[in-house]
Amino acid sequence: MENFGRGLSELHDELRQKYPALCRVAVAVYDKERDFLKTFHHSTDGESPLSFYQVKLNETPSLKRLVETGESRVVDNLQDGYDPKSEHSRRLIAAGLGSSLTIPIYNKDQFFGFLFFNSREAGYFKSTMVEGLTLYSRLISVLAIQELMPIEMLKGAVETVREFSRHRDAETAAHIDRMSRYARLIALEMGPKFNLQDEFVEYLFRFAPLHDVGKVAIPDNILLKEGKLTEEEFTTMQSHVSAGLEMINSMVNSFGLATIEHVEMLRNIVGYHHEAYDGSGYIQGLKGDEIPLESRITAVADVFDALTSKRPYKEAWPNDEAFAYLERNAGTKFDKNCVDALLCNLDRVEQIQALCKEQTF
Ligand code: C2E
Ligand code: SIN
Ligand code: SIN
Ligand code: FE
Ligand code: FE
Repeated sequence: MENFGRGLSELHDELRQKYPALCRVAVAVYDKERDFLKTFHHSTDGESPLSFYQVKLNETPSLKRLVETGESRVVDNLQDGYDPKSEHSRRLIAAGLGSSLTIPIYNKDQFFGFLFFNSREAGYFKSTMVEGLTLYSRLISVLAIQELMPIEMLKGAVETVREFSRHRDAETAAHIDRMSRYARLIALEMGPKFNLQDEFVEYLFRFAPLHDVGKVAIPDNILLKEGKLTEEEFTTMQSHVSAGLEMINSMVNSFGLATIEHVEMLRNIVGYHHEAYDGSGYIQGLKGDEIPLESRITAVADVFDALTSKRPYKEAWPNDEAFAYLERNAGTKFDKNCVDALLCNLDRVEQIQALCKEQTF
């Protein structure tokens, strides 16, 4: 199955014929490095109460226990367990969910994530139904793992390339971490208004760090030049975009990843992150909505971090000057919605900067 999300909705339709009050099936994936659990895909009747929401497993003891024991959990009455301090609890109740079945899933021995089934009715998950859904859960988990693995491989391959090239470039790990977080922050802010899916946010976060992979093809005397580039040098510099696209294409071919649906998103991020909203960018000179949203978001995140970072050719700008620059160019160089989404989250921006500081060696 190529598209896990579509598969999950189809399966949900099928299950609903047997279990009409089964109103939500969701897969949450665990990010081990950061201890985050976040929705990967869901099929929900009506709005998802838990979109754009992530929890730390360590701060959610009830889920943590399931990971350790491998047991499934039925909650017959979610209202009873209502914890006003928990955002998670609050959202479930707000969505009118009555009961839940939670099944931990593993890839080999590694905890992979959870499957959540919900019903608006209390006490909906009877033991025979739990048995049935447990069987389905095996299938769903295999498919989810299959969909994510090639992306992990691609990420791994790209990170290896980056490792080799990093010493040449002022683009540190911290830069990559920050800009992908800015991109996610923008997408999360735009999410509700623009009807973005969790999946979009997740892949944007995974792929944004790769926007400049093509810089490995740029010679040192240009990449590391301490002064302003000549026109000719800048033309060479701009070729990092097409070089990046070529790298993605050859990796996709050699890993047999052509069927990954999200390769398109990766290509857009690499290929269009220097397009400008008014058509003045490169390499295509696309305009407005011709530029894919993921590329417009990446552009704002990239430039904001470039401005606030030291480069061989420039000093770091203070935040307020970088904000003013984005604001001045919102609607011309940048998509105004993306700029606004960043500027209304100044506290989060500072949090990200505090979290992802440059390492000094
Ligand atoms: P980068 O350093 O990651 O910068 C990404 C983008 O941030 C730039 O894309 C530009 O839109 C914005 N930006 C960065 N610094 C400044 C700045 O001081 N003022 C303004 N107004 N915008 C800034 P751009 O211009 O297409 O450049 C792409 C890449 O080319 C840069 O990536 C950098 O690696 C290189 N580059 C650009 N200009 C120079 C330069 O004068 N000297 C050197 N050595 N490299 C340069
Ligand atoms: C979900 O979106 O269903 C996963 C988040 C959680 O239950 O903690
Ligand atoms: C964010 O999610 O936007 C910032 C915090 C983080 O990812 O660590
Ligand atoms: Fe670039
Ligand atoms: Fe960049």
